[in-house]
Amino acid sequence: MSRKPLIAGNWKMNKNHLEAIKLVQELAFSFTDKDFDKVEVAVLPPFTDLRSVQTLVDGDKLRIEYGAQDLSAHDAGAYTGEISGAQLAKLGCAFVLAGHSERRQYHAEDDALVNAKVKAAYRHGITPILCVGEGLPIRQAGDQVPYTIAQVDGALAGVSAEQVKSIVIAYEPVWAIGTGEVATPEDAQEVCGAIRTRLAGLYDREVADAVRILYGGSVKSDNTAGIMAKPDVDGALVGGASLDPGEFVKICRFGE
Ligand code: G3P
Repeated sequence: MSRKPLIAGNWKMNKNHLEAIKLVQELAFSFTDKDFDKVEVAVLPPFTDLRSVQTLVDGDKLRIEYGAQDLSAHDAGAYTGEISGAQLAKLGCAFVLAGHSERRQYHAEDDALVNAKVKAAYRHGITPILCVGEGLPIRQAGDQVPYTIAQVDGALAGVSAEQVKSIVIAYEPVWAIGTGEVATPEDAQEVCGAIRTRLAGLYDREVADAVRILYGGSVKSDNTAGIMAKPDVDGALVGGASLDPGEFVKICRFGE
């Protein structure tokens, strides 16, 4: 089963809409069609930048995809400050993050809410990038696999095999996010491999083999190749390094 690698840049709460245009233009200048034959590339800007990114991508027929960092579990109504999957779909978003550790940590998102958000994304034809991963105490106790698998189970409850085939799962150990402390390729493989085995158990082998599993946490151009060489790692979710166009392009070329 060949899975096309995906590198997604999570800009977090960085870049206004003018800066977003500049960054996407810089990426567009650097990428060639040859790059896109080998890798799928997506940017995940803040909500306020999405319209500008859409205009640029559509106008110049760029092969860079884009998506959002969060969505509401609801489709419309009195939910002040929320953004729905329907609104994101209308803006042409291909992807949306669900359950990023910063949402879990600062906005008390639990597995039930993440599950509702995954389902909301599917209702509107957007591919969820489900984020899972353990904090430092769990890693120190050696419980990273059962902890992460429980997050996967919770987020996928009631999600059909047909839907799950297209999901992207990002394994992002919290202790590696923004710390410069990247997981070793072996650490990444251990948990990504366990997630794939779990998918085979929850669904079947065909579904498990179809799902792209990314690693995220201090990914840089000089550590991408080692991580990407692992059999169950199909790409990366990149935070800080995705704000530097030169560095992000190098990551998308797996460090070459
Ligand atoms: O979603 C990406 C992420 O949380 C990793 O961030 O800055 O460690 O690459 P960073």
